[in-house]
Amino acid sequence: MSDEHDEKPNRIGPTIWAMAVIAMAAFVGWKVLGPATQSVVSHAPTMQAPQKTPTISEPVVPPIQMTAQLVRGRRFFEDSCALCHGERGDGNGRLSPGQAPRPRDFRRAKFKFATTDNHVPSDDDLLRLFRSGVTGATMPGFPQAGREDLLAVAAYVRKLVVEGVAAELSHEVSNGTMTTDDARRALASRTTPGPAIVVPPEPPTDEARLENGKRIYLEACVKCHGADGEPDLSLQLFDEDGQRNIPRRFAQGFFKVGEDGPTLYIRTLKGMAGTPMPSFEGAYSPSDIWDVVHYVQLLCRHPRKN
Ligand code: HEC
Ligand code: HEC
Repeated sequence: MSDEHDEKPNRIGPTIWAMAVIAMAAFVGWKVLGPATQSVVSHAPTMQAPQKTPTISEPVVPPIQMTAQLVRGRRFFEDSCALCHGERGDGNGRLSPGQAPRPRDFRRAKFKFATTDNHVPSDDDLLRLFRSGVTGATMPGFPQAGREDLLAVAAYVRKLVVEGVAAELSHEVSNGTMTTDDARRALASRTTPGPAIVVPPEPPTDEARLENGKRIYLEACVKCHGADGEPDLSLQLFDEDGQRNIPRRFAQGFFKVGEDGPTLYIRTLKGMAGTPMPSFEGAYSPSDIWDVVHYVQLLCRHPRKN
């Protein structure tokens, strides 16, 4: 197996991104302090303020160097993704109008299919998504693409995410609604993948545990997903784009990205960012979450007739 060889880019990725995020954070700070009066600059010893007056007074142009990997990622993105997600990743590609859900606007840094503590997808999350696509949405899979291409496009997507969040934050800093330090921290925490969620080993099910799963389902899920896994369509729920967001119809028996136990455990634990699907972290014990996941899987296996 060539696993060991394949692992490498994955380890390099986060390092480069951590560096990029730090560079961005410094830039957000510089941007705010740079154009301000000289005295502000001289009062910011931690800021590495520019020695001379910068000649470039351009606003947000993040200093993320276009590495060979990013150039490769951009090429792939422009060929295969921009028609939906838009050249800048704002979700406004040529094919975007009329799509529901809309192609993701990366600049908002909201992700549904992450398996990390802070909803920022890991490289593995992105690769899984790129390979499989999203069932029930227009997002296609790219199963034939090589790992290096997919890692490159993942890196390029992260660049777009960092640029989007940085633009939003530097706006807040210049409005005085956020300090530079807070902006730096926010940029890092909104764009750097947090620790992977640790899923406890999947317990076996039995009648008592399925009963418990049903109890939790009726308590916490039924109002959106419906008693038989067929949601009440008169319920008006919306996602962050203001589009109608219909709770997953378990009776139809599909999930968007992965239907294995651990994936559904994570969706139930963390919710789905940017949608009405809430997080149940802290509301139920890990054992209860496993039980309700098994009950949901049971609803999928017994779809309603007609
Ligand atoms: C035909 C349109 C289309 C194309 C082409 C497309 N996407 Fe998407 N993409 C979508 C839609 C729609 C969603 C939202 C799916 C949802 O919310 O259920 C999405 C979601 C995503 C997400 C968000 C995942 C998350 O966790 O929320 C990422 C990242 C993404 N796409 C990257 C890409 C990349 C990279 C490519 C090219 C390799 C690509 N997409 C090609 C339509 C597209
Ligand atoms: C306030 C309404 C609401 C409640 C309560 C709710 N959900 Fe959801 N759920 C949603 C919506 C909306 C979606 C679809 C989000 C999307 O795909 O954009 C969803 C999607 C899901 C998915 C699909 C994940 C995928 O990848 O396709 C699972 C699993 C899920 N919910 C489980 C649960 C469980 C278990 C409970 C109760 C413990 C629950 N939900 C409670 C609204 C809700």
